[in-house]
Amino acid sequence: MAKKPEKKQVETTGHSWDGIEEYNNPLPRWWLITTYLTIIWGIGYVIAYPAIPLINGATPGVLGYSSRAEVQADIDEVNARNAPLVARVNELELAAIAGDEEVGSFAINGGRAVFQTFCSQCHGSGAAGAPGYPNLLDNDWLWGGSVEDIHETISVGIRSEANLDTRFSQMPAFGEFLSKEEIGTLAQEVSAFSGINGAESTEDGALLFADNCSSCHAVDGTGDRFQGAPNLTDAIWLYGSDMATLNETISEARFGVMPAWSGRLSESQIRQASVYIHSLGGGE
Ligand code: HEC
Ligand code: HEC
Repeated sequence: MAKKPEKKQVETTGHSWDGIEEYNNPLPRWWLITTYLTIIWGIGYVIAYPAIPLINGATPGVLGYSSRAEVQADIDEVNARNAPLVARVNELELAAIAGDEEVGSFAINGGRAVFQTFCSQCHGSGAAGAPGYPNLLDNDWLWGGSVEDIHETISVGIRSEANLDTRFSQMPAFGEFLSKEEIGTLAQEVSAFSGINGAESTEDGALLFADNCSSCHAVDGTGDRFQGAPNLTDAIWLYGSDMATLNETISEARFGVMPAWSGRLSESQIRQASVYIHSLGGGE
């Protein structure tokens, strides 16, 4: 038989396990009150705020609160605060923006943000590029490195189908006209321009280059910005400088596409990005 507590008689639940009985004490009052309060608070919350998930969205709550609206309000506030600077970015001559202390630093910071969001996936977060995607830090420019040129490139893109005014040129795939041997000779000729791959210029190579390539890359191989034809005499290569890559470039040609950003970014954002890129060190 279970022992009864000696001091005072406490009700038990009536269960008995091998003689062990369970007291039936009331819940502590503070605990009970807290529980009821949280239930009341919970009901109030569900009425006031978005809470119960529905198929699309959730019950809105009588206060009409939404975190999206809160973020939008923050964005509107920042936009309103920046509006005079944005207007100045659009008013000033592009080349004068960087020289204006307040507008210049606003544009460079804004341009950096635009770059990280929209450009870094191709050009690299530090703008140093990758094979096929030009380095924007150096002073080697396919299409021109003045802030106006950069602005034009960003606005209309390069070989972009989305923009009728896009910068356009197309190197022919010489594999269709020339023999493998001739292409190899040209790869050597191109290497000889900058003294790579242990190559030397040959008479055949010089002739082939003059006939087929000089109209775009210039007789001396220094390229032509009107056509976005790279300088082949420097150490900077968009697609690579080893013999295999050169043979492939000449035989199959390349068609680097850069999206057009006018219409996708505001004019002010494009101007800020131009000033930012121009400020990276290679700007002309
Ligand atoms: C989808 C990839 C891609 C994205 C995104 C992209 N670019 Fe480009 N960009 C390219 C390619 C490829 C080229 C080189 C095209 C060529 O071969 O002529 C280029 C070229 C450029 C050039 C010309 C460089 C020169 O030497 O003349 C500038 C300037 C430039 N990009 C800026 C930007 C900016 C600013 C953004 C973001 C708003 C951006 N790019 C986003 C792919 C991209
Ligand atoms: C119609 C103009 C045109 C002609 C002709 C032309 N090219 Fe090009 N070439 C270009 C353009 C434009 C590019 C850049 C393509 C791109 O960025 O997508 C280029 C790129 C190259 C590259 C890559 C350079 C790098 O930095 O990676 C090499 C190499 C090259 N050309 C060699 C030649 C040779 C050799 C010939 C002659 C057999 C030739 N090209 C003829 C326009 C031309």
